[in-house]
Amino acid sequence: MTLDSDSSKSALHDRESKDVVIEVKDLVVRFGDRTILDGINFKVHKGDTMIIMGGSGCGKSTLLRQLIGSTVPDSGEIRLYGFDITRMSEKELDPLRKRFGMLFQSGALLQSLTIGENISLPLLENSKVDPAIVDLIVKMKLELVGLTGFENLKPAEISGGMKKRVALARALALDPDLLFSDEPTAGLDPVMTAVVDKLTCDLTRKLGMTAVVVTHDMTSAFRIGTYMIMLGSGPHQGKIIAEGTPEEIKKNPDPMLRQFINGEADGPIPLKLSQDDYFKHLLGSG
Ligand SMILES: Nc1ncnc2c1ncn2[C@@H]1O[C@H](COP(=O)(O)OP(=O)(O)O)[C@@H](O)[C@H]1O
Ligand SMILES: [Mg+2]
Repeated sequence: MTLDSDSSKSALHDRESKDVVIEVKDLVVRFGDRTILDGINFKVHKGDTMIIMGGSGCGKSTLLRQLIGSTVPDSGEIRLYGFDITRMSEKELDPLRKRFGMLFQSGALLQSLTIGENISLPLLENSKVDPAIVDLIVKMKLELVGLTGFENLKPAEISGGMKKRVALARALALDPDLLFSDEPTAGLDPVMTAVVDKLTCDLTRKLGMTAVVVTHDMTSAFRIGTYMIMLGSGPHQGKIIAEGTPEEIKKNPDPMLRQFINGEADGPIPLKLSQDDYFKHLLGSG
């Protein structure tokens, strides 16, 4: 690769020339008469850590659920490795699902099982692996997330940050090449957040995995993201209001984006009903 005088242009060129892992085209999702996602378009390239950000309720988790094929959109296409998953049956989706790991917002570990058993679940469900090998894989995944020797404890016996890392180990059990995480650092202190972020970076930068991460933690987003999209709220509900590399996002003057990044209470992001709507709502006439 030669060094270009215009580094942003060469960064864009590098991005475009890499393999496209996910391609979302004109995605529309409605719940009743509410349009939650309204014509979303983006691409995720191999090795990217794509950040999806936006205010609470703007549709980030909804978008992530679409990407893993757990719900069908009203219209649009979602291509994973070139396959349009919106047109695939559960049975057809199965082999594709084995290629990606998911770390859900709730983390959802089964309380009655040990840490080791929780991590081995996807292996036992999805592949015919010898039990001795399963044990070995569990140990390797625990080592990867810095929890060597914790396999016999129950989820109730470990801290919140450790639970997140166990959930990550479980998401990685099948050696996916694509990882989806929904708020992986929510509720974690800054040190634990840095630990989980470092893991995500190691997976993508060192092991070549591709990640799509929903987060409203901006420190974390700028630390791990290679590309970012921000979903709008209120009148901009369902649209991507800003996107770019972290450098581009840092420079983007959009007031809504600035308010979100700087975590300011005052700004164009609609937090509540307007005063008029509020009174109408209280009086039952709105
Ligand atoms: N299954 C559903 N049925 C109806 N409304 C839903 C459903 N799932 C999410 N929503 C609504 O869609 C909006 C976006 O939700 P969500 O994607 O969870 O937001 P975010 O993750 O950005 O906080 C919210 O207003 C939520 O109430
Ligand atoms: Mg959510």
